[in-house]
Amino acid sequence: MIYTVTLNPAVDKTVYVDNFAINTVNRATSVRQDAGGKGINVSKTIQQLGGSSTAVAVLGGPAGSFISSALNEMGIAVRAFSVAGSTRTNTKVVDLASKTYTDINEPGAAVTEELLSDALAILALEVNPGDIVVLSGSLPAGAPAGTYATWARTCRDAGARVFLDADGDALTCGIAAKPYLIKPNEVELGRMLGRELREIDDILGAARELVERGIEHVMVSMGGEGAIFVSTRGAWRLRQPEVEVVSTVGAGDSVVAALAYATSEMKPLDEALRLSMAVGAATVMRPGTEPARREDVERLFEQVTIEAL
Ligand SMILES: Nc1ncnc2c1ncn2[C@@H]1O[C@H](COP(=O)(O)OP(=O)(O)OP(=O)(O)O)[C@@H](O)[C@H]1O
Ligand SMILES: [Mg+2]
Repeated sequence: MIYTVTLNPAVDKTVYVDNFAINTVNRATSVRQDAGGKGINVSKTIQQLGGSSTAVAVLGGPAGSFISSALNEMGIAVRAFSVAGSTRTNTKVVDLASKTYTDINEPGAAVTEELLSDALAILALEVNPGDIVVLSGSLPAGAPAGTYATWARTCRDAGARVFLDADGDALTCGIAAKPYLIKPNEVELGRMLGRELREIDDILGAARELVERGIEHVMVSMGGEGAIFVSTRGAWRLRQPEVEVVSTVGAGDSVVAALAYATSEMKPLDEALRLSMAVGAATVMRPGTEPARREDVERLFEQVTIEAL
């Protein structure tokens, strides 16, 4: 089983406005709401790939109920932990006429350490050896920086393989617990190591350093440039085919989803790597945080290139 963990989820509200302007009244041409948050995006992509996962999420208020029912309708199991207050709504104003994209992100409901430790204890009881736990996204207010390290250790002790996709202190503290896999982009990796990574060799060196420190799998995504994957078995440069880019939001989450799915299905490494780039490319072809379409993934899969470094 794959568990995705989203401690700071959001309803993604996309408001379409032509010629959006400040200091005036704007009229929306259409509005849509989606269940969002990085772990939830991972669950949605796993579903598209034909896999299944349980979305563990801290939810509250009407926005929290919306997320639960939206996921259930998609056939994704939800393990909700209730927070006082309401799950946030992140608003994206999309102006297709002047091609501007404006995000307004709310801070989200604060959690207590008691809520986090109860949720972790319940998850640890559910997790079986060999399961995958994906820890992903920013930490909510009230969660200590070491939250992912604590969750990673506890889940690993229960026999799970932990995937971590975070930024800043949450990532820096989280890697101390030596997750099974991390997926920073090159900027997040540089920030974590406190140095700028300009060339491919700098990125490769940084990823190798982390593998030597005990993180078995390091996937560094580089947007349109593809990715570098390093494990104890070697290092590879991955490139996806060129595609029409509609929205790059959630591309990294889709790579994490593909790796989690391929790992749980015990796919060979080259297939897992190929799938991750095909899914990344298929995701940027979709608007907003809509997951990749399976037919796009299947078409792009053969066109991914893998070069041993
Ligand atoms: N412009 C692009 N063209 C083609 N593929 C892309 C593009 N941007 C991203 N991808 C695909 O998606 C993967 C992940 O993208 P990226 O490195 O931007 O993730 P990220 O920065 O973690 O994104 P996020 O956190 O917003 O989900 C890339 O390795 C690549 O396969
Ligand atoms: Mg990312």
